[in-house]
Amino acid sequence: MKNIRVPKTFTIIMILSITIVSFVMMDGCKVPESITSKSGAQLWGENCIRCHNSPDPKGYSDDQWDAAAEHMRQKAILTNLEITKIRDFLKSAN
Ligand code: HEC
Repeated sequence: MKNIRVPKTFTIIMILSITIVSFVMMDGCKVPESITSKSGAQLWGENCIRCHNSPDPKGYSDDQWDAAAEHMRQKAILTNLEITKIRDFLKSAN
């Protein structure tokens, strides 16, 4: 069987495209500005009201907020950053 020679230009194009694709993918993982710039109070007001009245921070203790936040993170399909901000806000205001 003959040795298959891969032309240099092909190798260069492959390396270039892998580099470009990884940059595009890394960019896709960045958290959008619209989320990072929002405060916990804002996210709480905008998200929790989608299904029920935004709950009163005073209604639960810190431990209860930890449990409820994890429960609602799954229900509301929020990112870790969003729920962390909301939870910190709720705990600071209870
Ligand atoms: C997709 C709809 C939905 C969203 C969005 C949502 N919730 Fe809920 N939540 C529910 C439902 C349904 C219940 C009651 C049934 C249950 O507990 O699963 C509930 C119950 C609760 C309770 C009662 C205790 C508990 O854990 O069951 C708290 C507290 C609460 N939600 C807080 C929040 C907060 C804070 C947010 C915003 C981050 C939020 N919810 C967003 C659907 C939602």
